[in-house]
Amino acid sequence: MLTIGSHHLDNNLILAPMAGITDLPFRKVCKQLGAGLSISEMVTSDQRLWQSRKSLHRLNHVGEIGLNAIQIAGTDPQMMAQAAQICSAEGAQIIDINMGCPAKKVCKKAAGSALLKDEALVANILETVVNAVSVPVTLKIRTGWCKDTRNALSIAKIAEQSGIAALTIHGRTRACRFKGCAEYDTIAEVVQRSNIPIIANGDINTPDKAQFVLDYTGADAIMVGRAAQGRPWIFSEIDYFLKTGVYQKPPMIGDIKKVIVQHLTELHNFYGEFLGVRIARKHFGWYLAHLPQGACYSSQFNSLQSVTEQNSYISSIFQNLDENERLAA
Ligand SMILES: Cc1cc2nc3c(=O)[nH]c(=O)nc-3n(C[C@H](O)[C@H](O)[C@H](O)COP(=O)(O)O)c2cc1C
Repeated sequence: MLTIGSHHLDNNLILAPMAGITDLPFRKVCKQLGAGLSISEMVTSDQRLWQSRKSLHRLNHVGEIGLNAIQIAGTDPQMMAQAAQICSAEGAQIIDINMGCPAKKVCKKAAGSALLKDEALVANILETVVNAVSVPVTLKIRTGWCKDTRNALSIAKIAEQSGIAALTIHGRTRACRFKGCAEYDTIAEVVQRSNIPIIANGDINTPDKAQFVLDYTGADAIMVGRAAQGRPWIFSEIDYFLKTGVYQKPPMIGDIKKVIVQHLTELHNFYGEFLGVRIARKHFGWYLAHLPQGACYSSQFNSLQSVTEQNSYISSIFQNLDENERLAA
């Protein structure tokens, strides 16, 4: 169990913030399937952009299951503090600060992982945001900007001194982007020398990898991102394994159908038909990767233009499958 400020989570499994993926519908599904916490997709701290369709969706947490944690990104301490204040007034129970995003668009504005190069600014942002809100503030970083400037340890010290309630570390530098394998030595070192909860992140994609990363780093919790795409039940699989030491049986095809139908219905309702149908395509494509002969269905599904067509196509796929069969392990 992980504690963040005054919040006690049901477990130590967290869905990673992923822009364009971990929207409200996906967060709900993951939480129902065992994620103890999810962090929303990042929103810019620049409130002048909050009326855009993208920001409005990202700021919409109506009906969030469990804790409402919003991630903000930016470089100006006062702007970040104001954004945090508004989010918490609107119901955010945790504010997460993004200093891990490697995207050029974000780093060009010296935000996201680019901030790791400027420790004085990091301290200024963290202190200003922490002092501006009464809810816990958490921070998400990479291990550093590049392999020669792996400064996670000193950022962690700054975080601790600034009153950050938990720190997530993705085991790659900004220069690594998503290449190579995540390394956990830096995370382990930070855990050893920190007095705040540390959340390990990067390439955790199976229950035993989760167990390995927890053991190897000594982290208080783990965060899972890409491995949950099309497989949100990974949280209950990991939870079960961590608690019992044995693998949970794979889900039945019928259970997966229920998850998909609920997820896509939520997407259609949340975004409306035009956008919902388009966003459903990528999620359904990820689900298909786990279903028998799933790949055969993706191009036809992607050509469908309406909610009705998508729903009836999904029903027809499952008519050809045995709903009582379990997914291959
Ligand atoms: C498509 C995509 C979008 C992401 N968006 C964010 C984001 O908005 N904020 C953030 O802190 N990290 C973001 N990340 C990084 C993830 O939170 C996570 O650190 C990274 O994917 C490594 O974890 P994983 O190996 O479990 O996927 C994103 C990653 C991906 C793949």
